[in-house]
Amino acid sequence: MATSGLLRRLGMALPIVQAPMGGGPSTPELIAAVSNAGGLGSLGAAYLTPEQILDAIRRIRALTVKPFGVNLFAGAYQIENAVDPAPMLALLGEAHAALGLPPPAVPVLPPDPFGDQLAAVLEARPPIFSFTFGIPQPQDIARLRSRDIAIVGTATTVEEARLLDAAGVDGILAQGAGAGAHRGTFLGRFEDAMVLTLDLVRGIARAVARPVMASGGIMDGADIAGALKAGASAAALGTAFLACPESGASDAYKRAVLAAGSDTTVVTRAFSGRPARGLANAFIAKLREHEGDILPYPLQNALTRAMRTAAAQRGDPGFLSLWAGTGVARARALPAGTLMRELASELSAAGG
Ligand SMILES: Cc1cc2nc3c(=O)[nH]c(=O)nc-3n(C[C@H](O)[C@H](O)[C@H](O)COP(=O)(O)O)c2cc1C
Repeated sequence: MATSGLLRRLGMALPIVQAPMGGGPSTPELIAAVSNAGGLGSLGAAYLTPEQILDAIRRIRALTVKPFGVNLFAGAYQIENAVDPAPMLALLGEAHAALGLPPPAVPVLPPDPFGDQLAAVLEARPPIFSFTFGIPQPQDIARLRSRDIAIVGTATTVEEARLLDAAGVDGILAQGAGAGAHRGTFLGRFEDAMVLTLDLVRGIARAVARPVMASGGIMDGADIAGALKAGASAAALGTAFLACPESGASDAYKRAVLAAGSDTTVVTRAFSGRPARGLANAFIAKLREHEGDILPYPLQNALTRAMRTAAAQRGDPGFLSLWAGTGVARARALPAGTLMRELASELSAAGG
């Protein structure tokens, strides 16, 4: 019943969400293909300027009349830095030299972009707005609501889900421990918020009377059926869509995803300063002995950007953030519409 209610509200024929993926993978083409196939495509807009957000939403609307979501980072933006940057600059200097880049310098961070990004979302009025890393201010929630935008917040624990419920969200994305990329945790220690996806879904569904979307390690229709059985109204898949031709992941990234024969993911702060799950590689190994030298998020993220960009251009996976969930070995290089059809038929074969 919860499933059909949420799907009706969001105009979805299938309980399948393409999870937002900031940094490029969730292109308008990927989003439209998923929404056109009866699911819900989502734009990861956290690294986009307000103009880029408006442009991306225009492009999505040119490709689909179906609902889609837009996602931002609502919190965790820390300008202060108490860590001496010299050791990290020296470590990164070696990577820069290997990639033919000039030595790195500590970037000057702009103020938190969330307010201006949200203004673009409010102007464009996508059907759904989702967020992670925190909770927007009550006045922001009220502005979204007054524009009839459905609101979905990310929780990694039952306690976070309770706070989201109290803030008045319409749905909760339960991000389990196996999920690819950044942990959404905003309450307490990250280490205490590594709950397996189905356990998290069961816990949140019991504690909160809002539709729950399951995410983390969900790769096929049988996984989706399991999530629905645990109490989810839909499943949100990120890694499963990374290798689609419509995905904006770089070729080196897609190759690394498709080459993963088993789960070789780790949770690391190396690339951004915030714990995130990705395929183990040379840069993560290099920083393993230097945890204390990693700068806070988002400074470390800004500092490693030149390295990551150059590595993507050169096709070098050793210095790339290869975000992926624990199901990575089951990623499929199929057009998104075909993948959606396969997921739907697997789901129905699994009794979902
Ligand atoms: C490359 C990548 C980028 C992501 N970026 C975002 C993001 O910008 N915002 C967000 O809320 N979640 C982001 N996520 C997390 C997903 O929304 C979702 O929780 C996760 O992909 C689910 O786990 P799975 O990758 O095992 O399917 C990202 C995931 C990946 C793989």
